[in-house]
Amino acid sequence: VDRVKERKSLYLLPLIAVLAVSLFSLWSMGENRAQAAPKESCVSEKCHSKMGKEKFVHGPVATGDCGFCHKSEGKHSFKPIKNVGALCYECHDKLDTLKAVHKPVKDGNCTGCHNPHQSPNKFQLQAEGAELCFRCHDKKIAGGKFVHGPVAVGSCSTCHNPHQTNFPKMLMAAANDVCYACHGDKQDEFKRKKNMHPPVADRCTGCHNPHSADFKFNLVADSKRDLCFTCHVDKKDEIAAATVKHGGLETDKKCLACHDPHVSNFPKLLSAAPADSCMACHDREYKKGNYTVANMKEVLANNKDLHGPIRQKDCSGCHNTHGSSNFRMLREYFPALFYAPYDERNYKLCFMCHEKNLAKQEFTTTMTNFRNGNQNLHFVHVNKMVKGRTCRACHDAHGTNNPKHVRDAVPFGAWDLPVNFQKTENGGKCVPGCHQLFVYDRTKMFTNR
Ligand code: HEC
Ligand code: HEC
Ligand code: HEC
Ligand code: HEC
Ligand code: HEC
Ligand code: HEC
Ligand code: HEC
Ligand code: HEC
Ligand code: HEC
Ligand code: HEC
Ligand code: HEC
Ligand code: HEC
Ligand code: HEC
Repeated sequence: VDRVKERKSLYLLPLIAVLAVSLFSLWSMGENRAQAAPKESCVSEKCHSKMGKEKFVHGPVATGDCGFCHKSEGKHSFKPIKNVGALCYECHDKLDTLKAVHKPVKDGNCTGCHNPHQSPNKFQLQAEGAELCFRCHDKKIAGGKFVHGPVAVGSCSTCHNPHQTNFPKMLMAAANDVCYACHGDKQDEFKRKKNMHPPVADRCTGCHNPHSADFKFNLVADSKRDLCFTCHVDKKDEIAAATVKHGGLETDKKCLACHDPHVSNFPKLLSAAPADSCMACHDREYKKGNYTVANMKEVLANNKDLHGPIRQKDCSGCHNTHGSSNFRMLREYFPALFYAPYDERNYKLCFMCHEKNLAKQEFTTTMTNFRNGNQNLHFVHVNKMVKGRTCRACHDAHGTNNPKHVRDAVPFGAWDLPVNFQKTENGGKCVPGCHQLFVYDRTKMFTNR
């Protein structure tokens, strides 16, 4: 609205100026009067005959007032116009009052863009749309495989002011507001979500080229991964260094299989709650070499008593989704086998969250509840130099139907060795494939025969 108003007043001001100047020159300058040639003498069939014939004719040219701009020095000899900008400003508002002024405007090179007389283009422009800008700027910026909507139709001035602005890069508005002017739907979507990716808040052009690019959505690099690695170099290194790689990173969507590039209601820009984002894929089995990765959705559905972190939907408590150098992409070491010699470091994974002295001492009344009297049964099973049972011999890390995450059975070679655990008030009993019925009681040692 302001621009329209401006334009209207602009229309009037120069008109008054032109009238005043012409009246003044007619009235006062007797000497000049002879040379301030009457209209007919400049534009006739013989001379300057094309002047005023194009679609858009500049105001003073239309009124035939050549003399305002061309001062004669005698017989049809005209001084070259030295400072075109200053000349234009005689009738037009100054265009160099804001913080940033376009170089040609600053230089007074108005005719770099406007024909002073006439043109087939509106505002007597030297060319139309983007072609005007390409008189001085490299066309390459619009030459990518994917061209942004407004650039494709040559509309540079929807984002850039050709004369002056208060914002960097001759933009019409501050940073992302330029984009939101048209992508208001995105602004609304972004506002509704809790967490914004810092570079999005910073500037859209960190990832999107506003003009054109060789990648879909005008991205400055391949959206799927290379784009992310341009900033997340440490992630790139971490993923490259992992010896146990995750197939989840290798689908078509690459990083976007789990992350939203802009905003999210979940931590770490995940597209869904942490565990749910895993289930987008882990609702079926996968082959990895000759090993079959279990259908986790089914595993969790079939086990009523889920392990603490899983109840909190936190798979990342144990797995590093981007890959790791431990078995099953675990964050810390965990033995893959049924037996392992005792070493506290073998169970680093579990000891991230649990008592690390649970299998250290033969006798205890505090370190564990897996006791017969004060005899530590974790010590008995786990703490051996040869054939120490690993945690997996009795526990399942995801969930079980038995209390204390004791499993029904454990793979032992080709056999599913049953555990047959039963919890009692002060202890429990089991008849595993390994030995006969054993009972334990914390309050009063039970004597097994
Ligand atoms: C608003 C100012 C303005 C008015 C009014 C104006 N000119 Fe010009 N004219 C210019 C400028 C600026 C140039 C280019 C700068 C220079 O070469 O000195 C120019 C250049 C010219 C040239 C040189 C060749 C060319 O086309 O570039 C001719 C001839 C000319 N004008 C004729 C006229 C005639 C005839 C009129 C009146 C019908 C007229 N001008 C009115 C500003 C004006
Ligand atoms: C003698 C006074 C005068 C001078 C000097 C002058 N103009 Fe103008 N200009 C006018 C008038 C009068 C109009 C017509 C107003 C209208 O139609 O809105 C006009 C219109 C324009 C328009 C079109 C505006 C529109 O809204 O359509 C442009 C662009 C323009 N002039 C640029 C220039 C440039 C560039 C120069 C310097 C080379 C210049 N003018 C010098 C008086 C002048
Ligand atoms: C880089 C190219 C460029 C230069 C240089 C330039 N203009 Fe413009 N000018 C434009 C364009 C493009 C428009 C049309 C704006 C629009 O579409 O809203 C325009 C419009 C105008 C208008 C009419 C509309 C308005 O904004 O009021 C005037 C008057 C004008 N210019 C004067 C000038 C003067 C005076 C100079 C030199 C001091 C100049 N221009 C230098 C590109 C330029
Ligand atoms: C007459 C020549 C000319 C034309 C036509 C022209 N420009 Fe420029 N433009 C320049 C020059 C010179 C610079 C300064 C370049 C530099 O500093 O490297 C510049 C700089 C710019 C910049 C960068 C400003 C900054 O802060 O870095 C933008 C954006 C720009 N022009 C946009 C446009 C657009 C959009 C158009 C068409 C409406 C256009 N230009 C037409 C000459 C022109
Ligand atoms: C959708 C808005 C938009 C459109 C349309 C647009 N630009 Fe830009 N342009 C920008 C933004 C935003 C920047 C600043 C980029 C940055 O900061 O990385 C920019 C920067 C520039 C620059 C400065 C180059 C640089 O790398 O610093 C030039 C020159 C330029 N644009 C010219 C044009 C031309 C010519 C057109 C029309 C073909 C055009 N622009 C259309 C938004 C736009
Ligand atoms: C003048 C309006 C306008 C402005 C300003 C604008 N855009 Fe666009 N943008 C469009 C149009 C029109 C399309 C094409 C829509 C389509 O193809 O569905 C588009 C498409 C896009 C697309 C691709 C979307 C798709 O579905 O293919 C992205 C990404 C985009 N714009 C980002 C930006 C960014 C970043 C900015 C700010 C630098 C910006 N836009 C500013 C009008 C605009
Ligand atoms: C960190 C990089 C990054 C930043 C910063 C970024 N985007 Fe995107 N944007 C992307 C990626 C990646 C895609 C492609 C999404 C896909 O493939 O599903 C995309 C797609 C889009 C699309 C088209 C698809 C859609 O979701 O509708 C639009 C529009 C868009 N972005 C707008 C914006 C706007 C506006 C901003 C600034 C407020 C912005 N983007 C900032 C990375 C980014
Ligand atoms: C322009 C640089 C840039 C690009 C490109 C980029 N990021 Fe980021 N990203 C950041 C910055 C800065 C942070 C905040 C600091 C940090 O955590 O490293 C961040 C943080 C994150 C976070 C953690 C958010 C949190 O809540 O802690 C995730 C996840 C993320 N980015 C994923 C991605 C993905 C996926 C891509 C590719 C689609 C991507 N980033 C592309 C700069 C970038
Ligand atoms: C299979 C799902 C998945 C894929 C694919 C994925 N991530 Fe993540 N990403 C996650 C999860 C889950 C977290 C949260 C980890 C946590 O809470 O410790 C995360 C966290 C991050 C973080 C935050 C820092 C951190 O490590 O906690 C960054 C940065 C990140 N991812 C970048 C990427 C990049 C880059 C890609 C593509 C190479 C990618 N991610 C692919 C699931 C994924
Ligand atoms: C985009 C699909 C996808 C998503 C999402 C996904 N995964 Fe996977 N995951 C796979 C595929 C495919 C495999 C088997 C092939 C492979 O790893 O090479 C796999 C294998 C695994 C393995 C076994 C690795 C091994 O070496 O034995 C674990 C553990 C795993 N994923 C955990 C997770 C966790 C935790 C999440 C959520 C944070 C998750 N995955 C999300 C696709 C996905
Ligand atoms: C307390 C640690 C822990 C948590 C939390 C955890 N896992 Fe695991 N996960 C493991 C361990 C340990 C293994 C190796 C089990 C084995 O070989 O007996 C494993 C194995 C896997 C496997 C390979 C399955 C197979 O075939 O044996 C997948 C897939 C998997 N986890 C996905 C997930 C998902 C999805 C979540 C979140 C819902 C999750 N994990 C949470 C510790 C955990
Ligand atoms: C990320 C932390 C974390 C890791 C790693 C972890 N756990 Fe847990 N564990 C928990 C939480 C939380 C609970 C629930 C405690 C509660 O409900 O009081 C729990 C409960 C248990 C229980 C049942 C305890 C009870 O008193 O009911 C057992 C058994 C168990 N975990 C075994 C393991 C084993 C074996 C490992 C290694 C494979 C392991 N945990 C790794 C966090 C973890
Ligand atoms: C021989 C089977 C067996 C093995 C091997 C075993 N546990 Fe247990 N664990 C149990 C039983 C049974 C309980 C339940 C004790 C009770 O509350 O009655 C238990 C309880 C626990 C608890 C709950 C807290 C406590 O100590 O009472 C944690 C935590 C735990 N085990 C972790 C581990 C870890 C870590 C490993 C491997 C280092 C491991 N267990 C090895 C059988 C075993």
